[in-house]
Amino acid sequence: MLSLWRHSTASCCFGGRRSIATIISGNQTSKLVRERLKKEVDEMKVTKVVPSLLVLQVGNREDSNLYISSKMKAAAEVGIEAKHVRLPNTVTQDEVLRAIAAVNEDASVHGLIVQLPLDSVNRMDVEMVTNAVSPLKDVDGLSCINAGKLSRGDLNSCFIPCTPNGCMELIGQTGVSVAGKHAVVIGRSKIVGAPMHDLLLWNHATVTTCHSKTRDIATQVGRADIVVVGAGRAEMVRGDWLKEGCVLIDCGINYVSDASKPSGKRVVGDVHFASAYQRAGFITPVPGGVGPMTVAMLMQNTVVSARRALANAAGHCL
Ligand code: GUN
Repeated sequence: MLSLWRHSTASCCFGGRRSIATIISGNQTSKLVRERLKKEVDEMKVTKVVPSLLVLQVGNREDSNLYISSKMKAAAEVGIEAKHVRLPNTVTQDEVLRAIAAVNEDASVHGLIVQLPLDSVNRMDVEMVTNAVSPLKDVDGLSCINAGKLSRGDLNSCFIPCTPNGCMELIGQTGVSVAGKHAVVIGRSKIVGAPMHDLLLWNHATVTTCHSKTRDIATQVGRADIVVVGAGRAEMVRGDWLKEGCVLIDCGINYVSDASKPSGKRVVGDVHFASAYQRAGFITPVPGGVGPMTVAMLMQNTVVSARRALANAAGHCL
């Protein structure tokens, strides 16, 4: 439980004393993961295999550029060979599919991700593009094969999407056991909400997934021991929705205007932190919570993929 910051009790609005949340630091937890991976990569050197990752980007979105540069930095730190290939936004879907096929065929690359969203002037079928990545190199866990395995509980032979995998690591840091708990996931995206549901389910939670058509999300959230929010709506979840002492994981990254900042904006999550902090038992901050864990889990999946390739080459399965 190295990454938790324990805070003291605070007076609540009724004059009684209530414990305020412990912050679960993704910065600290991801650092531990990267240190562990670096050791593993160093140990692999005797086999002459260096885990390698290719990030394919279509177009030049500013937010994607930032995410990719943090992936490149983490890879360098861990000792993963990472390559960033940027295709122009005029590329056609066929050209993207051909680029993916070439990487699938290249035995020196263990992990391939296509950065989303695709920034193209041409129509792109995102599903077709993500499914073109070989399931054996799909370290984002977004192909139907990996998503299908996860949905059936076949967790050991698939790649688990990085954000939900990072959320599970953060929940693990609290010492709160998932089995038998009631978990509520807000959002059902392919990259966060849907795989988060599956992961909690196969770790034996009872899971409710809320989405834009769910009636009375606040009531659902109020029943949850564990809440994971990936809704894409700034500060949507309020403290008074929460069951006291719950574990609250915020996957949101939203920009709101803030005249006091030189940039004129600041980043907030999908949780209204100030009120939730008074009521949750554990809470992730934004920034510094789930974000760095997503990157760390991508590194982990890449190392796992390299180990699997090595084992296959040696004629036995990991
Ligand atoms: N865009 C934002 N987050 C992600 C991610 O985890 N993977 C990919 N491929 N694209 C993203």
